[in-house]
Amino acid sequence: MSTPHLKIENLQVSIDNTEILKGFSLEIKGGEVHAIMGPNGTGKSTLASALMGHPSYEVTGGSVQIGGEDLLEMEVDERARAGLFLAMQYPSEISGITTADFLRSAVNVQRGEGNELSLMKFIRQLDEKMNVLEMDESFSQRYLNEGFSGGEKKRNEILQMMMLQPKICILDEIDSGLDIDALKVVSKGVNDLRSPERGFLIITHYQRLLNYVKPDFVHVMMQGRIVKSGGPELAEKLEAEGYDWVKHELGIKDETVGQQA
Ligand SMILES: Nc1ncnc2c1ncn2[C@@H]1O[C@H](COP(=O)(O)OP(=O)(O)OP(=O)(O)O)[C@@H](O)[C@H]1O
Ligand SMILES: [Mg+2]
Repeated sequence: MSTPHLKIENLQVSIDNTEILKGFSLEIKGGEVHAIMGPNGTGKSTLASALMGHPSYEVTGGSVQIGGEDLLEMEVDERARAGLFLAMQYPSEISGITTADFLRSAVNVQRGEGNELSLMKFIRQLDEKMNVLEMDESFSQRYLNEGFSGGEKKRNEILQMMMLQPKICILDEIDSGLDIDALKVVSKGVNDLRSPERGFLIITHYQRLLNYVKPDFVHVMMQGRIVKSGGPELAEKLEAEGYDWVKHELGIKDETVGQQA
């Protein structure tokens, strides 16, 4: 089996004819953890949604390959089967479907027809992962995310990731809303999954998460593209000094929020 590999080249994405991603490029290989930091509204979640194939996001240029295959040609379920996973910034609540049923169908969609996990094995795996995440078993019988606190929703996203064992994991602000203990538990869940068989893209505003999940690369995203890359020290500098020095260093002018360039 080939090692995981996501290659994004010069990606351009629009929403309602407004260009949000303006030539975004990044390559993630198995074993690597990349972190993206950047001001509000710069297109980080847009990147995540466009990669997953959300219909509101129109790809107007560039290319994305996963394991050498054209990701942009794939349907949403094919992207999941190819090993792409997104832990969402704002997980949706779905009434009428329990967390366990949702996870089971997600696991089986990914495994494909004829290769479904038996109920016994599924339950055993679910119990095991919920234990790692210190989640009470009652959550599995509650409707998906319905009435979950902000932090519980985030934990549930990580549970889903642990069940699916994807090849490329995108975590969109998985740390926001987590208390200090939950941050450690969630980080443990992420670290347990780190392997040469898996690559991570972690979107965060705070260096704090990166103390627990050590990134190999840190990228600064502004105005729809990566403008600067470095190692973990870059995240420390951003936390201490904000983004003005990056703008100054690169001669980037401020943009009104939501304004088209
Ligand atoms: N569905 C949508 N309809 C209209 N505009 C949108 C939509 N989704 C995103 N945008 C706009 O695209 C821009 C980028 O949004 P995005 O959510 O990608 O930012 P972000 O970098 O994730 O910000 P944050 O750090 O606040 O999460 C914003 O100006 C936002 O208002
Ligand atoms: Mg966002």
